[in-house]
Amino acid sequence: MAPRIEAPEFRLTKTDVVKKVEDILAPLKLSEEVQKRIREVYDEEMRIGLARNPSRKSCLQMENTYLPELPNGTEEGEYLALDLGGTNFRVILLQLEKGRVVSDEVQHYFVPEPLRVGPGSELFDFLAACIYDFLETRSKLDHKLPLGFTFSFPMTQQDLNVGILVSWTKSFNCPGVVGEDAVKMLNEAIQRRGDLEVEVVAVLNDTTGTLVQGAFLDRKCAIGLIIGTGSNACYIERVDRVEKWEGTHGDIKEVVVDIEWGAFGDNGVLDFMKTEYDQMLDKNSLLVGSFTFEKLFSGKYLGELTRLVLVKLAEEGLMFGGKIPSQLLRPGSFPTRFVSLVEQDAVLKLARPVSSESCFHELGIEHGSDDLKILQQVCFAVTERAAILLAICLSATLMRVDREECTIAVDGSLYKYHPRLHHLLEHYIIKMTPGKKVLFSINRQL
Ligand code: BGC
Repeated sequence: MAPRIEAPEFRLTKTDVVKKVEDILAPLKLSEEVQKRIREVYDEEMRIGLARNPSRKSCLQMENTYLPELPNGTEEGEYLALDLGGTNFRVILLQLEKGRVVSDEVQHYFVPEPLRVGPGSELFDFLAACIYDFLETRSKLDHKLPLGFTFSFPMTQQDLNVGILVSWTKSFNCPGVVGEDAVKMLNEAIQRRGDLEVEVVAVLNDTTGTLVQGAFLDRKCAIGLIIGTGSNACYIERVDRVEKWEGTHGDIKEVVVDIEWGAFGDNGVLDFMKTEYDQMLDKNSLLVGSFTFEKLFSGKYLGELTRLVLVKLAEEGLMFGGKIPSQLLRPGSFPTRFVSLVEQDAVLKLARPVSSESCFHELGIEHGSDDLKILQQVCFAVTERAAILLAICLSATLMRVDREECTIAVDGSLYKYHPRLHHLLEHYIIKMTPGKKVLFSINRQL
């Protein structure tokens, strides 16, 4: 069993301060009863999401990806892959031999904010310009390359190369794309240029891409999981349970279902566990009222959640000598990487919490040693809640996968760079899925 790391020791002498800090952090603790209720609600939303004629709409999209089968190891040749989901757009050239990647070249292009929230056509023109730059630099402009597009947003898919955007998430909100086919928009941008030979053959969500990559290496892989800026999972489901899939399925027995669990709770089913910090975070977010579950813990939000708790503690006179540092009043000023840094101190158990100090230092905030201890308590609390929430939904998903042994392919910056989250997640998964043999495999980032 993964080692369990205990909360940093809390040695404040003033017991009333300790008590008040605990009271402020208490809503972030998920009691067994609350955990059970989240699990029940999640199970129910999954069931409704797959049903043919449900009496109400589920907040879980449970999208049939139409991924006909996982790779069979015969794929050969040069492929272009695009990856859009965060602030960096990636263009990748892959060389496949017998289904294996034998070489890859990657280039990152930063997507500036005006493009992330400006007209959709401009965003797609930018993507096409990046493809041009990538191929021109490599003298491959005249190569006819098949292109796979990883578009890490909720889509409805009617075919492997059709992905209709359901809603923007994370830091994107370009008008004119919701309800449109992202592949068509990309093809149109490519045609507008008239100087590219590429053809978009498939569009995938990043969870699906992660599952496919994981299945290359391990046939037991049945779940793709992303814990990054956003969060989501997909899994292999029995076709007879995907009731909403009408028509004939031929010989297909299993299908990859993209859960889109970031939207879990958007219909109010999680309201009972949302804290005042979650409500405030949502109110100040780019897409208010959407992606409830994702906002509770994912990389785009964990730092912000921490900031809101710190502000509350300062307001209550429990930190910074009762003076609220102006730096902390700016939304987004406490990035999630700071949570990882603070948690590193808890893991390393150094005599001096140097990483935590460096966060306050970077922000230019004067602090005392008790402030550092409280900061650690806050980061511990938001991390613990993140791991439990993820484990609840992941274990419920695992129980649907018809295998005793299951590998989960994981990707995403929060999972990779947070020093404790993966241990915690493993710990809770073992607790919540008795009888299952579960393995996490981290995907190599191309
Ligand atoms: C998107 C998902 C994606 C996840 C991880 C979410 O915001 O809705 O489609 O898989 O982020 O990137």
